Amino acid sequence: MPVATTPPPATPAAPPPHKWSRRHLLGLDGLTAGEVRALLRAAAAYVPVATSTQTDTQELAGRTVATLFFEDSTRTRTSFTLAARRLGAGVVDLSSGASSVNKGESLLDTARTVEAMGVSGIVVRAKQAGAAELIARGVSCAVVNAGDGKHEHPTQGLLDLLTLAEAHGRQDALDLSGLTLVIVGDVVSSRVARSAIAGARLLGARVVCVGPPALAPASLAALGCEVSGDLDAVLPIADAVMMLRVQFERHEGSESLRSPSVPSPREFRTLFGLTRERADRMKPGAVVMHPGPMNRGLEIDGEVADGPRSVIRTQVSRGVAVRMAALRLCIG
Ligand code: NCD
Repeated sequence: MPVATTPPPATPAAPPPHKWSRRHLLGLDGLTAGEVRALLRAAAAYVPVATSTQTDTQELAGRTVATLFFEDSTRTRTSFTLAARRLGAGVVDLSSGASSVNKGESLLDTARTVEAMGVSGIVVRAKQAGAAELIARGVSCAVVNAGDGKHEHPTQGLLDLLTLAEAHGRQDALDLSGLTLVIVGDVVSSRVARSAIAGARLLGARVVCVGPPALAPASLAALGCEVSGDLDAVLPIADAVMMLRVQFERHEGSESLRSPSVPSPREFRTLFGLTRERADRMKPGAVVMHPGPMNRGLEIDGEVADGPRSVIRTQVSRGVAVRMAALRLCIG
């Protein structure tokens, strides 16, 4: 005869771990809020080292990081290089001009060759969306995505989140609920926006993307944000406005600012440029962000970029701390 059994008490679902156990950082979409917080907490702890000219840690001493940049970059490559050095790692730079990719060797072959020389981590930037993931599948060392086409730029997304959290006193909880992040301009071309949207949503923020329909189409809503064509209507609710560079080089073959269906650069500035007059209408405490490089006078006025609301320099400085965290957690 079956014995009546009492079902075990329902155990509450375990909270997602606030720790990092992945080998690669390929994007923020698909991570848990706990994983994003683990990266941000590590980054926040590195801020004093990252911003001092004198300190270094030796946490990755004896390791080598390879930077493989197949697309132009100044700040991201420099920032990763500084981050690796501040962790005590050696850095080898294989930009496309100097590597055999120009001779027809595939991205993956180049990455495997570099790995065979004993590197512990590869930082990759490429024109093709999915390039970092492709490499990660083919090598056993850590891979950090430094921007793959229009897909993701996760360390930029993390530095944006850290800057935003600090600007609003949320750096301890790393919770952005109740805050509205407004992302303006060429969202459709932007891997920065994709990573920022994914990360900000994970931490509870509301995200509104604003631009002309060709650059901020309604379909972006699938990423979990709202979409608007009216910057002046959205500006008063913003706690942070992130201006994006108009990426003319990515418009080839698609609708572009130069195409008749979308505004000219002059109209773009009139409708979507962050002018001093617009910045003055933002909420007290609301901040202005830009990933750089900026088209001053197009999407943002110089006096706003350098003005009191701007946290653009903080973004650059947090970039080093975030990249230290990404390298340390993926390699270590
Ligand atoms: C961005 C990039 O390369 O995706 N810049 C950056 O990493 N700081 C944005 C851009 O090029 O406009």
